[in-house]
Amino acid sequence: MKTLVAGNWKMNGEASALPDFAKLTGDCEILVCPPFTLISALAAEKPAQVMVGAQDCHAAASGAHTGDVSAPMLKAAGATHVILGHSERRTDHGETDDTVLAKAEAALAEGLVAIICVGETEAERDAGRAGEVVGAQIAGSVPEGATPETLVIAYEPVWAIGTGRVPTNEQITEMHALIREKIGDGVRILYGGSVKPGNAAEIFALPNVNGGLIGGASLKTADFQGIIDAA
Ligand code: PGA
Repeated sequence: MKTLVAGNWKMNGEASALPDFAKLTGDCEILVCPPFTLISALAAEKPAQVMVGAQDCHAAASGAHTGDVSAPMLKAAGATHVILGHSERRTDHGETDDTVLAKAEAALAEGLVAIICVGETEAERDAGRAGEVVGAQIAGSVPEGATPETLVIAYEPVWAIGTGRVPTNEQITEMHALIREKIGDGVRILYGGSVKPGNAAEIFALPNVNGGLIGGASLKTADFQGIIDAA
């Protein structure tokens, strides 16, 4: 299976950055997930090798949901993927596994690839509950009928996101093995949380790590290209 390197710009990025991103190149699959407002511009500007995704979608196709964006709208804008259940959405917007499941079903119905994020907090890890928490997130938020073509799992320990702290190789290996057991062969499992050009090669070489979901380091083309080169 081909390694997938996905950038999550979060609420960052400007149109002026897009021409630089159109130069990204590599042997792996490359995905950039900018804010909603830049999806169509990036889709128009990107090279064929770069795919464009969104960072969320609503569970409904249309309706009275002020401020929300639906899966059909993302598809029309040129997105092929959508990140769902990121820990920042789970925390900032109170998203539960049920919410994420409904959104993932909407994404799949539209032919978008759902990148479902899971991961434990530091308190949950300290309490020895990391596996239990992530197992429950997988059981609760992955739609039935999802396939390796329509589903990607991103393991992102909350305490490693934007902190510069990275789990040990043993911790990553253990969590990815647990996710692999639950999700089956073929589905890509990304690691996310403080991936940088300097640590990407080592992380991507671990068993059952099929790529990365990159936040901060995806905002600078040189750093993101460095991570792509490590894949
Ligand atoms: P980070 O974020 O790379 O900045 O730690 C990862 C993510 O939240 O997807």
